[in-house]
Amino acid sequence: MGFNMRYLELKRKIREVRMWAIQGIAEAGSGHPGASFSAAEIMGTLYFRRMRHDPKNHSWDERDYFINSKAHSAPGFYSTLAVAGYFPPEEIKTLRKLGSRLQGHPVRYSERQKHHSVPGIEYSGGSEGIGLSVGVGIALASRLDGKKNRVYVLIGDGESNEGQIWEASMAAAKFKLDNLVAVLDRNRVQQDGFTEDIMPLDPTKNKWEAFNWQVFEVDGHRVEQLMDALNKASQVKDKPVMIVANTVKGNGVRHMANNPQWHGKAPTKKQTPVLMEELESEFFIAPSIIAGEKENYEQKIKKAEREGVELIHLDVMDGRFVPNNTFLADTIKKLRPSTSLPFDAHLMIEKPIDHIDEYIDARCDIITVHAEACMEDEFAVIQERCLAAGISPGIAINPETDVPKWLYPHLPDLDVVIVMSVNPGFAGQKFIPETLPKMVAVSKELREHGFNGYIEADGGIDATTLQSVYDAGARIFVAGNAVYGNADIHSAMIQLRHKAAVTLEKKLLEHATRLGIRYDWMKVRKHILIPYASELGIEEELNAIK
Ligand code: DX5
Ligand code: ZN
Repeated sequence: MGFNMRYLELKRKIREVRMWAIQGIAEAGSGHPGASFSAAEIMGTLYFRRMRHDPKNHSWDERDYFINSKAHSAPGFYSTLAVAGYFPPEEIKTLRKLGSRLQGHPVRYSERQKHHSVPGIEYSGGSEGIGLSVGVGIALASRLDGKKNRVYVLIGDGESNEGQIWEASMAAAKFKLDNLVAVLDRNRVQQDGFTEDIMPLDPTKNKWEAFNWQVFEVDGHRVEQLMDALNKASQVKDKPVMIVANTVKGNGVRHMANNPQWHGKAPTKKQTPVLMEELESEFFIAPSIIAGEKENYEQKIKKAEREGVELIHLDVMDGRFVPNNTFLADTIKKLRPSTSLPFDAHLMIEKPIDHIDEYIDARCDIITVHAEACMEDEFAVIQERCLAAGISPGIAINPETDVPKWLYPHLPDLDVVIVMSVNPGFAGQKFIPETLPKMVAVSKELREHGFNGYIEADGGIDATTLQSVYDAGARIFVAGNAVYGNADIHSAMIQLRHKAAVTLEKKLLEHATRLGIRYDWMKVRKHILIPYASELGIEEELNAIK
């Protein structure tokens, strides 16, 4: 049993993990948000997409093992187990409380220890540096027993100061443990400072290669890169694998990011609703490659990749549903090997039911069809096929189109709704302002009918319109002309991200003000707010905060 979650579902679940973890830590008044957040994508990708495990049968003999050696990431780890289904997430709020099963550091689950442990915990962590040795033991035992289980061990870079890690590393190479994968949460911060100031670990990759491990290095917050490395790891023979996952401590909450202060400190309970809103407001920018110069798409994708975008928006036009032709599934198939970035395919074609398998086969990560181009029964088949293939299904509505009532039963399993803010057919069109109140109404209507996916804003999104669609509920922003219509893509992206950040800070400040914690919030958030102070009109107020 595995999970094979769809891209956007996986992102949503990992967001949920962060939200439960921060509630538990705030409720307990102690705990480790920094590590819980830096390792969130690593643990989420393993539990929700990669590992063979069964929350309903936690001691399943064929399960893969996860050893969390950086045990202080417990709140994030517990939240991952809960969201995976090992126990009710609500229990996270008992973190570190007397009598709770969820103590500061995880305890290996057994009948004898069931009062202070939960099913799914394979290893009692506390003092660090030991988990890799336990992983080596389990991997060796599995192999001696002729079993196919794989063993995943999460270690930290502060923890890598421990000599035992390197002893275990030598043993793993000695025994050629190709069923062992270690993931290093390389967030460059430990208890009281930056790793390279305290005990330099770099060159990290070379070290592990010198200890005869196969090493892959990835952005540890990119689930697609983690999946890529885990897939490659499963092909490696006669060597253990190390995935160096470059992460940001506290990633997800901007004032905690890369900040040693938040290694083991809890936010106040009063701040929790604001932090939850921040985590819920995670957004993605998806450049549309049909915009701008007619250069080859691969180059455009490479440029977007260098700018760290989250998604690539692929506008498929067949010249019939819209008065324009761009490209079809065969082009996407050719582009697929050029990047691990998720493909957000927007099908502006007639009869998508007749072509859906071609786009599934082209390995898109999100496939959105137009409500105007299909009947309910056709959409039901399209959605079913996408779900079966682990692809996020989406539906798009044109400016004149309301949400079709037949869509309601399909909403719980829908990951995207594109609310068009131009009439489809071309990039570079002007944003239609009337679509804004519609987007607000549609967001509300969809949530009321069980939709918990992403609203995508598409058409005329740029530095002048992004804020309003963000406020209206969109979380995926398609940007065609705003990116590729700009000679300097780098500053275009900076400008879009800046606008999104200002919108986010304004929302959070308003929320904190409503809760009566405006001063506390500005104090804890000061270093983040400074660049936006003039746009938010808070310069004086901010300067007065010492
Ligand atoms: C229009 C497409 C949009 C468009 C976006 O039919 O669906 O994705 O290419 O381009 P801009 O951002 O320039 O409107
Ligand atoms: Zn589009």
